[in-house]
Amino acid sequence: MTVQAAPAPVALPENVAALIDKVIEDNPMHRNFVTRALANVTAPELAHLDDYINFCKQKGLTVAYLAECYLTIVGDTLREQIYFQKHKKYRYSTFAEVGDSVYFNEEYMSFYMYGLAITSYLWPNHLDLFRFFRETLPTGKAGKYLEIGPGHGYFFMTAMEQSTFDTFTGGDISETSIAMTRALIEHFGAGKKPFDLVCMDFLKTDLPENGFDAVVMGEVLEHVEQPDLFLKQIARLANKNAHIFVTTCINAPAVDHIYLFKTPDELVKLFDDCGLKIKSQLIRPYEGKTEAESLAQLLPINVAYVLEKK
Ligand SMILES: C[S@@+](CC[C@H](N)C(=O)[O-])C[C@H]1O[C@@H](n2cnc3c(N)ncnc32)[C@H](O)[C@@H]1O
Repeated sequence: MTVQAAPAPVALPENVAALIDKVIEDNPMHRNFVTRALANVTAPELAHLDDYINFCKQKGLTVAYLAECYLTIVGDTLREQIYFQKHKKYRYSTFAEVGDSVYFNEEYMSFYMYGLAITSYLWPNHLDLFRFFRETLPTGKAGKYLEIGPGHGYFFMTAMEQSTFDTFTGGDISETSIAMTRALIEHFGAGKKPFDLVCMDFLKTDLPENGFDAVVMGEVLEHVEQPDLFLKQIARLANKNAHIFVTTCINAPAVDHIYLFKTPDELVKLFDDCGLKIKSQLIRPYEGKTEAESLAQLLPINVAYVLEKK
């Protein structure tokens, strides 16, 4: 059965239209959400998503597979939200409980990362974080860029394309993430700037103190047992004027979220305790709710911060 997507305000590029058709065909209940979401995506962003789908197709992936990746995240997140509303805690709290089933499971991690890359456009809050990243990324700054947990590689690639840093290092604990990021860079950004992608545990890797002019860590803090250690390590590695960009989420369950932040205030205190100061921030409550309502009803809030060393 082929189900047509409801008309969006801007014409969808071919690959995006095919993806959306498949998503709605496989999960008709998602039609309203995705139609509303698409109305918020600009034509240049749709063109980027189209290029991304095209890149995936050139890797031999099908639109049906990408729709399955995306809907896997949608389904898994919904299941975890139900668990969270009932138990008021995330299902897991240690890395040992999720490491093998997520980060070191190539099949699941691929699903997860392709799906997550697509949410950067189709989930309004994720799109806002991505826009905030692009808007705050310094231009005209030289030096070394470090990213922890690039995952699908989309932020890393964007930094290579839009910033003027000289070298780019990405470190991720998952081989799958490293391979995905490398493939993305080689496809879109090969030969433009020097880059290095390393499979590493950020806390166990020896990196130079005050050695980086930008440190980016998107959606990692909620995946680790001790977020304070990650932030202290960032403060140690960043030089005095470094651009530091961190995103995370509050009351936002997912299969591999193990650290529960309950309020934005907790993060403010944590940054302060770890030697970091907030320069600007973006707080995105749950769709259709205020921040206070989201907090009271334990609904997900997405947050992003530009930080500097104190
Ligand atoms: C949810 S993904 C985030 C992807 C991307 N940065 C984004 O913002 O969408 C989290 C990534 O962090 C990586 N990660 C988790 N723990 C890590 C650690 N201790 N050291 C390095 N990477 C880690 C995971 O393998 C995964 O690729």
